[in-house]
Amino acid sequence: MDKFIINGGKKLSGSIDVPCAKNAYLAILAACMLSSGTIVLNKCPQFRDVELMLQILTKLGCKIEKIEDKVIIDCSNATGYEIPQKLASKVRSSIFLLGAIVGKLKKAKVAYPGGCDIGNRPIDLHLKGLRTLNVKIDEKHGFIMCDGSNLKGQTVHLDYPSVGATENIMLCAIFAKGTTQIFNAAKEPEIVDLQNFVVSMGAKVYGAGTSTITIVGVDKLHDTEYTPISDRIIAGTYMIAGATTGCNIEINNVNIEDIYSLITKFNNSSCKISLSNGKIKMLSDKRLKTFGSVETLPYPGFPTDLQPQVMVLQAISKGTCVIVENLFETRFKHVAELVKMGADITVRNRMAIVNGVDKLFGAEVQSYDLRGGAALTIAGLCAYGYTTVNNVEHIDRGYYKLEEAFSSLGADIKRIKDV
Ligand code: EPZ
Repeated sequence: MDKFIINGGKKLSGSIDVPCAKNAYLAILAACMLSSGTIVLNKCPQFRDVELMLQILTKLGCKIEKIEDKVIIDCSNATGYEIPQKLASKVRSSIFLLGAIVGKLKKAKVAYPGGCDIGNRPIDLHLKGLRTLNVKIDEKHGFIMCDGSNLKGQTVHLDYPSVGATENIMLCAIFAKGTTQIFNAAKEPEIVDLQNFVVSMGAKVYGAGTSTITIVGVDKLHDTEYTPISDRIIAGTYMIAGATTGCNIEINNVNIEDIYSLITKFNNSSCKISLSNGKIKMLSDKRLKTFGSVETLPYPGFPTDLQPQVMVLQAISKGTCVIVENLFETRFKHVAELVKMGADITVRNRMAIVNGVDKLFGAEVQSYDLRGGAALTIAGLCAYGYTTVNNVEHIDRGYYKLEEAFSSLGADIKRIKDV
């Protein structure tokens, strides 16, 4: 597995662009299975999870062509309805395909999904939602077998505003007879982007971004070209990295309203932040005061996908911060690694008590998941001395050459490829 070698202590400066959102792209790629024509997606990010989804679409019969950063997906022969374990288990978003495949082909046989090891990651809400739409589901031999021959629009109430379940049910309902309403739907920006994408293909979907989404069944969809939204988690990761090392940076191509929950944390801090049409300018040259508390919640609450990164900033801020992780039960694997670097953090169940220290010290640390790995990289950037971050393949799932992004801003970071 590749690793990063970081010589910490360099302030970040310069300008950096944010790519298209991984979690928008993955859901939109799943939605492509609803098409019987050709889809053109622009600015395709080279994240490993996106590559894996493209492999799955190919397995299902889609023809994929890449021209520069466009990906052209010809779904005219996409009649595959099976996703084997060796592909499904590599990425969480494989489960999003269930709804699209059943919606279009009225049958599916999909192995259980994979994804970051940050918790149990059940799919009960996905299956309950599809069963409400009259999909017959059998779970046997490690597969989810679906019969959607009597697919029918219905009212679905989600016990929890699950992002994936909302997306799965939306996609499954597009070709269902009649109207479907999803209550207690997730409101993430990626859900709105998914709605905008399927509507650009002729689907009738309304209400994404609110807790009630309505889908009126249609018979067919047409071709489209689409550019997904920018990645709010990468934008937030860069902001936190800048605040952690000290910086004079510009972050471009940001949907600012998508990360207000982070931006407002910097209010009354010594960070000088200016926001203007898609750009965040950040000036930080002092040790920050603690945020006091950070609680992860479904959108528009503070995103769980920024919890590990913000913990690093709090670990070197003045004062104590209480961080509560409400979404994933084991999303604190980065804590032990930060403690190796001198952080003072105590975990009690879903709560981490972070007592800020003056500085962290370089060490050899392991990344166990995508955002935890990004957090440890940020810790290395600000630590005194050298840090080795192992298993950076986890980071490659959702950041493209993160080492090059940070070195373009003046960090001393190199990737050592595992030979
Ligand atoms: C999506 O995961 C994202 N992944 C995650 O990003 C993100 O952290 C998460 O949403 C929350 O925002 C993709 O979009 C590919 P959920 P998902 O269903 O859909 C429980 C990253 O780092 N739940 O909203 O799996 C679940 O256990 C990744 O980019 C059920 O109980 O998230 C969790 O506690 C990590 N039953 C909570 O809901 C279900 O059937 C939130 O999960 C489904 C979920």
